[in-house]
Amino acid sequence: MEQLIDRFGRRINYLRISVTDRCNFRCIYCMPKDGIGWKPMSEILTYEEISLFVKASAELGINKIKLTGGEPLVRKGIDRLVDMLKNIDGIDEISLTTNGSLLKKYAKGLKAAGLDRITISLDTLKPDRFKLITRLGNIEDVLEGFDVLEEVGFENTKINTVVMRGVNDDEVLDLMEFALNRGVDIRFIEFMPTDVVKDWQRYFIGVNNIRRIIEARYTLKPADKKSNGPSVYYSVGDGFVGFITPLSKAFCSVCNRIRLTSDGVILPCLGHPDRISIKSAARSRNKNEIKSLIREAIRIKPKEHALLNESIHSSMSAVGG
Ligand code: GTP
Ligand code: 5AD
Ligand code: SF4
Repeated sequence: MEQLIDRFGRRINYLRISVTDRCNFRCIYCMPKDGIGWKPMSEILTYEEISLFVKASAELGINKIKLTGGEPLVRKGIDRLVDMLKNIDGIDEISLTTNGSLLKKYAKGLKAAGLDRITISLDTLKPDRFKLITRLGNIEDVLEGFDVLEEVGFENTKINTVVMRGVNDDEVLDLMEFALNRGVDIRFIEFMPTDVVKDWQRYFIGVNNIRRIIEARYTLKPADKKSNGPSVYYSVGDGFVGFITPLSKAFCSVCNRIRLTSDGVILPCLGHPDRISIKSAARSRNKNEIKSLIREAIRIKPKEHALLNESIHSSMSAVGG
């Protein structure tokens, strides 16, 4: 079978699909406080169009899918999409990254549709601070979300925590304890600069400082944990902690992914301005043209991101994080 190998010998087998740019939160590292203008629904790929794109991708060797947003659970009938993608030959795993607030309502349906696992973003355990970070969220909903995942039988749940100086860096140990007690992995993420969030330097904390906080209490042992993504894992007792360090230690040399935005644009790299639209090919249901455009995206995939010099040219909610 054909495989997608780029100019730097990297095999691309992982596709991140942003199913909507909309979100019910306004996290400070993702959006301005008044939000960003949502794209009109007429611009957004239908589930049938996304499905066709995934069929084309699977024929080229993509076997893992991540659904993101915005908040993927605000798009109506997301379980129907999971079911459609799960039935595509060659797709081995579908995971989803969510802010967790709507899991109460949707976790059961997602499990029934065949979703393999879920990652929840959680940056604080303090209700007031949760409001400050997410602006619109309520921590109770997210904590209930964790319970519901357990009840429904989801395994391999992960937590994503963006560590921000002066905002939540005093909670690194508490968040770790929360994750270890629940038996879920936690990944600490360096703040990435985007065009829509000013002042990122004010918040940025590099991985070495985050590790220093953790190593005051825990011993981190390098772990040989398999991961689809950029996270580097360490074991702590029975649990795992990961670090996602796009700025301190770029993981570009082992990058395995491309992105599809909700309005039908391929991003060969999160931190690079190149884009290829597949919308008209998807609208005319031309799978061969979609395949050519995917090959082209792989052909132009850059060696590494440019985040130390320029920020991501859109909001994280538009590109799916
Ligand atoms: P799993 O471990 O399979 O759940 O996937 P993941 O860690 O790739 O996905 P997730 O959606 O949980 O993303 C975690 C963090 O990594 C987010 O902050 C993403 O923005 C970031 N991230 C994921 N892929 C890339 C990438 O290609 N480049 C950069 N710079 N950051 C990425
Ligand atoms: N820097 C790092 N991570 C970010 N995310 C969103 N915006 C940023 C940013 N500026 C993370 C969210 C979510 C994931 C998809 O992307 O916390 O877990
Ligand atoms: Fe919504 Fe996620 Fe952006 Fe927060 S980080 S505003 S939850 S898309």
